[in-house]
Amino acid sequence: MLFFVLIALSACSGQPVTSSCPVEMSPTTAVVRFGDPFSANCSSLSNQTEGMGWESTLGGTPLTHGFTFLPLKIDSVTDWTVNAQCFLNTLDENQCFKILPITVYKTPDSVSVHQVDQKGPIVSGQLYYLQCDVENVAPMRHLSVYWYQGNQLVEKHKVGDPDPIPASKSFTQGMRAHSDDNGTKIWCEAQLNFPGVPNAYTVRSEPHELIVLYPPFFMDPANETHEIRADSKTTLNCTATGNPSPSYSWHFPDNTQMNWSQHKHPAFLTPDNDVPGTYKCTASNTQGTTSKYFTVIKAKGNRTTFAALVGGFVSLGALLFVGGLFFMTPEGTFAFNKGSYLKGQPTSSGPV
Ligand SMILES: *[C@@H]1O[C@H](CO)[C@@H](O)[C@H](O)[C@H]1NC(C)=O
Ligand SMILES: *[C@@H]1O[C@H](CO)[C@@H](O)[C@H](O)[C@H]1NC(C)=O
Ligand SMILES: *[C@@H]1O[C@H](CO)[C@@H](O)[C@H](O)[C@H]1NC(C)=O
Repeated sequence: MLFFVLIALSACSGQPVTSSCPVEMSPTTAVVRFGDPFSANCSSLSNQTEGMGWESTLGGTPLTHGFTFLPLKIDSVTDWTVNAQCFLNTLDENQCFKILPITVYKTPDSVSVHQVDQKGPIVSGQLYYLQCDVENVAPMRHLSVYWYQGNQLVEKHKVGDPDPIPASKSFTQGMRAHSDDNGTKIWCEAQLNFPGVPNAYTVRSEPHELIVLYPPFFMDPANETHEIRADSKTTLNCTATGNPSPSYSWHFPDNTQMNWSQHKHPAFLTPDNDVPGTYKCTASNTQGTTSKYFTVIKAKGNRTTFAALVGGFVSLGALLFVGGLFFMTPEGTFAFNKGSYLKGQPTSSGPV
């Protein structure tokens, strides 16, 4: 408690209290790129003054009288810790001043991403590290580094380092590899943000493309049952996704004779209609192996053919019956009455 009081007292003692100095500066704070020119104005809010002036580590403006505003002009800001203050001499021989805070910045020479401690592709499920190198940037305390993966913000780093001089810094990001990540792009972005400066200064790294190795998996891993019919072909789809691309092998029911030259795509199999049984497909790559079973059964009792036959007989019977109504007279002779014979009229209901 006493400590704070002492600080407060020391801040008030000696020099005049700066906050009460009746000057107005424009701008009130400044952000300048290293090497750029800089200018500011100071004006007095009181007419009881002896004069005003600017002091800065890069030159100033001597005590001047009779100006409504006094300019400070710096041709090139070449000091990372430049400071400037406008001072005012009052008629009673007092002097007060106000500080113009100036932040000098430099955008990074380069921003780049690389994989740490890993040559070659990463494997799904493993933890891997990426490093973002930001070269020669100032000031660190205004630097933020963002990680993006496929346009999604992944992580943000902020630096507390108060050193105003340009420095380089590396940021490491650990991530868990997932099969979905294969082929996605990761990059980092270095941003200098200043309060009140709407357009942040951004430098983005080249994207780093992820290659993730992963074992094959089926989109639909459930085993399948197929009914084979005489009138259509059944295709068993064993397509799996994996990196590297999986290779396939099939295990057929015992009495099957497969002609492999007919199967251009090994992920698809069209079984011989005569051979029901269990077909096993195995997809494998350097990362693993997975299998799926296809049970092929014959359609029961060839019911379709039977139904077609029954339907045919019923139709024929109905046709004969209707034909009889139209063409047979009560006398038992055929009558060719054109008026009652409607061409193309449906004769009966079809198969049941
Ligand atoms: C200083 O004031 C002059 C005159 O009003 C103006 O032209 C100039 O833009 C001002 N400079 C700054 C940095 O405000
Ligand atoms: C993995 O990504 C690489 C690079 O984009 C691409 O060439 C390859 O086809 C991808 N593999 C899979 C299985 O998605
Ligand atoms: C498929 O069938 C095999 C053999 O019966 C079994 O081991 C496996 O768990 C089944 N897979 C699924 C996804 O049901």
